[in-house]
Amino acid sequence: MKIFVPPIKCQGIKTKLVQWIKENLTELKFDTWIEPFMGSGVVGFNVRPHKAVFADINPHLINFYNSIKNGSITSGIARNFLESEGEKLAKGGQKYYNEVRLRFNNSFHSLDFLFLNRSCFNGMIRFNKNGKFNVPFGHKPNRFSKAYITKITNQIDYIHQALNIFDWTFVCQNFDITIKNANKHDIIYCDPPYLGRHVDYFDSWDVQNEKDLYDYLSNFKGKYILSTWHSNRFRTNEEINKYNKNNILTKEHFYYVGASEKNRNTITEALILNYSPLPNKNIIYPKITANQYRLFEPKVKYLKKEN
Ligand SMILES: C[S@@+](CC[C@H](N)C(=O)[O-])C[C@H]1O[C@@H](n2cnc3c(N)ncnc32)[C@H](O)[C@@H]1O
Repeated sequence: MKIFVPPIKCQGIKTKLVQWIKENLTELKFDTWIEPFMGSGVVGFNVRPHKAVFADINPHLINFYNSIKNGSITSGIARNFLESEGEKLAKGGQKYYNEVRLRFNNSFHSLDFLFLNRSCFNGMIRFNKNGKFNVPFGHKPNRFSKAYITKITNQIDYIHQALNIFDWTFVCQNFDITIKNANKHDIIYCDPPYLGRHVDYFDSWDVQNEKDLYDYLSNFKGKYILSTWHSNRFRTNEEINKYNKNNILTKEHFYYVGASEKNRNTITEALILNYSPLPNKNIIYPKITANQYRLFEPKVKYLKKEN
């Protein structure tokens, strides 16, 4: 299955988990897809629900998609902008990148946000304590090649076309409001920041947030899916324990620290569902032996590891 990659990237993007998440939606009926932590939006954009609410606390993500929705960003406008700004970047390199970053931090224009996101280090989104974007340059002055610009404008086109067909709303708000506004016929897909991983103006997450999210989800009358991490080489995510009445599915996932094969780490991702997914006989699982799919695990308690 070809996965659509959105125009704005972010850390924690779930591109590699989209297919798995979709499999667990098989034959499920719902009114509105609700995504309180949209990030890049890759999950909902690939589910392609008829009606959706994409929400995030980061206003720049939401403004970007609302600009596509209201026509102030089209693929043509983005192409012209990235061609001319890309030329300036090719000449000025880091100095020009810093100029655009300063400009963005004064005017918060969505096209500058796109430019920075696609030329900064690792496509990261990070803001300092004053709410200013502070990701350094990705050190590729020739970043905006013709092919790269076409790739980005095609991604904008995909969203533009989807917005012509579907009823999708983008809203900047805290997750509690998004969940409170959902009704029992909706499905909520939650992908909050991982506890203690980043400290960022729009992306910090603490034990109280975890607790609040659990309370809101537990009181929600409809279906929900929560993405989180289950374990890595060193530890197990204890926060999962409180969801032990739910179905907890796990999947191993490789990631690299740096470019070397040697620095390959695994993390076990978890999907917590408050419903039973239907087994889909048509699913053909890839024969990658190292990827252990432990789907449809019975409800289990995750025991604390003995030292
Ligand atoms: C892990 S990312 C989501 C990634 C997304 N699922 C994807 O695949 O791209 C978490 C998102 O939650 C947002 N966020 C953090 N705290 C929030 C809060 N209190 N309410 C709503 N959104 C929040 C962040 O801005 C970030 O975009």
